[in-house]
Amino acid sequence: MACVKHFLQFRDFTRPEFDHLFERARWIKSEFKAYRRYSPLGDRTLVMIFEKASTRTRLSFEAGMQQLGGSAIYLNSRDSQLQRGESVEDAARVISRMSDVVMIRTFEQAMIQRFAAHSRVPVINGLSNEYHPCQILADIFTFIEHRGPIQGRTVAWIGDSNNVCNTWLQAAEVLDFQVNVSTPPGYEVAVDRAGLQGTNNHRQFADPMDAARGADLVTTDVWTSMGFEAENEERRRDFADWQVDAEMMRVAHPDALFMHCLPVHRGEEVTAEVIDGPQSVVWDEAENRMHTQKALLEYLLLGRVDNSAELSRNGP
Ligand code: CP
Ligand code: NVA
Repeated sequence: MACVKHFLQFRDFTRPEFDHLFERARWIKSEFKAYRRYSPLGDRTLVMIFEKASTRTRLSFEAGMQQLGGSAIYLNSRDSQLQRGESVEDAARVISRMSDVVMIRTFEQAMIQRFAAHSRVPVINGLSNEYHPCQILADIFTFIEHRGPIQGRTVAWIGDSNNVCNTWLQAAEVLDFQVNVSTPPGYEVAVDRAGLQGTNNHRQFADPMDAARGADLVTTDVWTSMGFEAENEERRRDFADWQVDAEMMRVAHPDALFMHCLPVHRGEEVTAEVIDGPQSVVWDEAENRMHTQKALLEYLLLGRVDNSAELSRNGP
């Protein structure tokens, strides 16, 4: 199983691999927008295992796989044997004999790692407590579409040092940009849990305004992630001063973008004025989940495809 390529955390891929994915996503998106069929994954099956709720991740993988000519099967823990105690290892052995690629959304990253270790086919992390690599793949693609290369730029992360934050921090190390992080006291980034190499690609700020100052992108996420609902009331109090508002956007670079992985709680982590305002690219960001994941599925199943010129000339 050692030669199977997985996408379990952002640092599983190198910068040249991301450059390839961004280029393929750009081409796949432009074909989709022009109503040109690109379906290289006929007869291939994606199995999606969800142990947490989802709108975007399910929809983007399912629609994307269908557009590529394959099919997608949705399993949730409630009606699979995983909930009744079948081991992750046995589930991985069985599921990977009947499918070509597996996406998992779950609680502990360790579950995804165990599944991948016993899978014959590529495994994609569709969100764990620790990471959300597909989200940051789409976010960086969205940044590139709007502003060009992210190398050397500064991203301000305001709020919880959660799965999305950890993935931004890994991405900064792989793609060489800076992340300014501001969290409330007690919620700081844990370098080990974030899986960081320890390069100097992030700085922590006590004051969120200092983190946002001069940033090319300001981004945040819910104060309470899935699985942490018991802490909701406490977090509402602790995070009250970590709201992205118009004043914070004013201290960022004049061209700064605003992103949020969604779903959002307007009036908590961000004001309606900002998320519904001119600097926000959240709807592009959501749509790009599908285009970038199509590039990811293509790469994991077919390797480095570079048929853009030929297909553009001759059609599919
Ligand atoms: N951003 C994101 O992953 O959304 P869902 O939880 O709806 O999949
Ligand atoms: N940090 C959020 C992201 C949701 C897409 C969560 O884990 O609930």
